[in-house]
Amino acid sequence: MTAGKGKTFYIHTFGCQMNQADSAIITAVLQQEGYTVAESEESAGIILLNTCAVRENAVDRIENYLQRIQGMKKRDKRLVIGLAGCIPQYQREETLTLSPAIDFLAGPDSYRTLPALIEQARGGAKPTSLEFNVAETYEGIDPVRLGLISAIVPVMRGCNNRCAYCVVPFTRGRERSHPFRSVISEVQQVVAAGYREITLIGQNVNSYHDPEAGMNFAALLDAVSREAPQTRVRFTTSHPKDISAELVRIIADRPNICNHIHLPVQSGSTVVLGRMNRGHTIEEYREKIALIRSIIPGVTLSTDIIAGFCGEREEDHQASLELLSSVRFDSAYMFFYSTRPGTLAARTLVDDVVEEEKKRRLQEIIDLQNSISADLFQQAIGSVVEVLAETESRRSTGQLMGRTVGNRAVVFDRESHQPGDLVRVLITAATSATLTGRPEHR
Ligand code: SAH
Ligand code: SF4
Ligand code: F3S
Repeated sequence: MTAGKGKTFYIHTFGCQMNQADSAIITAVLQQEGYTVAESEESAGIILLNTCAVRENAVDRIENYLQRIQGMKKRDKRLVIGLAGCIPQYQREETLTLSPAIDFLAGPDSYRTLPALIEQARGGAKPTSLEFNVAETYEGIDPVRLGLISAIVPVMRGCNNRCAYCVVPFTRGRERSHPFRSVISEVQQVVAAGYREITLIGQNVNSYHDPEAGMNFAALLDAVSREAPQTRVRFTTSHPKDISAELVRIIADRPNICNHIHLPVQSGSTVVLGRMNRGHTIEEYREKIALIRSIIPGVTLSTDIIAGFCGEREEDHQASLELLSSVRFDSAYMFFYSTRPGTLAARTLVDDVVEEEKKRRLQEIIDLQNSISADLFQQAIGSVVEVLAETESRRSTGQLMGRTVGNRAVVFDRESHQPGDLVRVLITAATSATLTGRPEHR
């Protein structure tokens, strides 16, 4: 291969933070082989789409995107286009039929083979690398991250749960934890590189388990927070069944662990939770919330919720609304159910809530949650919060955007501050999604 454009790549990342972390691995693997990051998609010799399959509309987005880059490929025959991540792993070789422009497929456990896939694709083959490898945690590869303030550190891959609606076990394979030592050494690197915040991630992060080191997630979180005492530490996503009093106490005790827990509930109805195979009742979920609130005063909570799952009756929907009203989450990711072929729900349940009704229920959920968030955010007006400045605000270079320990977004007057600064901000206004304010002068 000649040097120049052919040796440059551009990654477009869709989906969750797991994919963001994987894009940093992909970048490292390709850079080791002499490839460099292209300044723009147009100037790249290789375009990689790191894809998400979690809901039907996530797949639609990729299809739209592929249509757009198909035209680029007509203009530049040497352009190589690869699909990585969850769609190829889920739809396997069939993914190639999404677009004639696709040159190769790489599943989430196969990124070490990317240089070989690219070479084979240039030779005219349409190679695919879709094997699961339960030993793969990409140990020994130093991720090349975007951004300089907040670092994502994966601590596990895959998921052993079988939530009935979910493709992730199919796209990511069996759960495996990164060795404790390798997490700690990544944390040390991130601290040495000057990052101010670390987010430990996994599909089910609190089921972390390293048998050799004798470490569960509570012990890991404790060790990470001690290794990086000046750095904010967050984690996501937690499963309710794996929230323990031990874990909650560590969050409360360690000053640099952010007092925010994202705890997906999915439905407010025990009947629906059972059908979803979530492994707990709504009472058990409420008990976990009560435990968390009793041990961590001022904790903020957020959740995920699905409207219109198979067999959901109006009373189940009302139970979801009631849960939101009584728990009063700070924020929520809200979805209507979309059936995913091959999952337990698609094989054994009937997707019987019509689309119009799913959307109506979702809208009720969104309206209620927005009013709760707006209420909670209003209450913050007049208080002073500590904000880690992350970027310039999208609206004005005279303002910075950052987050509170509770993960609330704050836009504030920049004055002399820079991204990376911890700033005490007096809150002067609020919407349902953002707080606004100015640095406090004492
Ligand atoms: N591992 C995480 C997140 C998984 S995917 C967890 O267990 O919480 C993120 C969210 O997408 C899920 O929490 C769920 O609310 C939503 N989701 C997953 N599959 C879905 C589907 N088929 N239809 C609608 N929403 C879905
Ligand atoms: Fe999907 Fe459930 Fe695993 Fe989360 S815990 S990734 S929702 S199967
Ligand atoms: Fe999507 Fe894969 Fe994440 S399906 S949500 S990118 S694990």
